[in-house]
Amino acid sequence: MTALAPADAAAIERAARLLRDGGLVAFPTETVYGLGADATSPAAVARIYRAKGRPSFNPLIAHVADLDAALAEAALPKAAIRLAETLWPGPLTLVAPRVAAGSVCDLACAGLASVALRVPEAPVALALIRAAGRPIAAPSANRSGHVSPVTAAHVIEDLDGAVDLVLDGGRAERGVESTILSFVGETPRLLRPGALARETLEALLGRPLETTGAAAAVVAPGMTASHYAPRARLRLDASALREGEAGLDFAGALRARADAAAMIVDLSPKGDLEEAAANLFGHLRELDARGADHIAVAPIPAHGLGEAIADRLRRAAAPRTKA
Ligand code: TXA
Ligand code: MG
Repeated sequence: MTALAPADAAAIERAARLLRDGGLVAFPTETVYGLGADATSPAAVARIYRAKGRPSFNPLIAHVADLDAALAEAALPKAAIRLAETLWPGPLTLVAPRVAAGSVCDLACAGLASVALRVPEAPVALALIRAAGRPIAAPSANRSGHVSPVTAAHVIEDLDGAVDLVLDGGRAERGVESTILSFVGETPRLLRPGALARETLEALLGRPLETTGAAAAVVAPGMTASHYAPRARLRLDASALREGEAGLDFAGALRARADAAAMIVDLSPKGDLEEAAANLFGHLRELDARGADHIAVAPIPAHGLGEAIADRLRRAAAPRTKA
């Protein structure tokens, strides 16, 4: 059975021991909860894939304690190092060529010649990585294809019995996964919009970011079309509720045109995109729990974190592939 513990010093020590022994530990980061295993151990990493029920071996993000630990794994070009110096710890994942002396195992990288690295900002995550003394591979701690977890309770809902320990560190503040940038080619590319807005990265890089379209599936193999899916069906960019629909609102747009009795949750009544990102996965789970079968989603502004929110909503609305 899965143990659940408040993330105090003793629990973090116990979690680090479990990780070193090949166990699975779910832990809070500032983005979403991660399902962690020793990234240097193929046997431990294999348990992640099994627990999530991932249909294929998608590469995982290796979470490291600092930039030096990242440089021990990957050949980060100067521009990537500058970004890391400014934005780590934080919700930025960098993909770069692996170095021969790296410790992250092939399975964690799904056999690719590159590795994804991130230094998380959440104190519990950092303390855990430091205590484990090695990179921690961690995808979001949900069943494959389901909505990402932002609380320990969400993790238990999806993975009870499949994980050795869940560290409860409260709600993941940002609520949407890290932004992934690839430095594998000549120019940096945005593989996944996320908790760090494109505008911030472009300003620091001094250039626009090439985007990998959702169609170019090979580049980030985990980015399948149907992902982040609740049970209910989603209709995006809705201007009003139709018969039988619940609403996922933004800034009261749907509420303004609906019956008082309509089931509507608002991502951000005041129209704040950071608040909306933080609420996204929790609100989708809430509508599922309240029995919504069809969800109309209000238009979301395209700038800042709106890009990541729209990306997750598009995937949640995509036709389901049965994994
Ligand atoms: O915020 C986050 O990033 C969370 C927390 C736990 O850190 N983690 C997370 O992991 O979202 P996951 O496994 O759900 O997503 C990792 C993404 C996948 O889409 C995967 O394909 C991509 O990173 N990825 C990993 N390694 C890669 C590589 N070498 N090249 C291209 N894409 C890679
Ligand atoms: Mg995920």
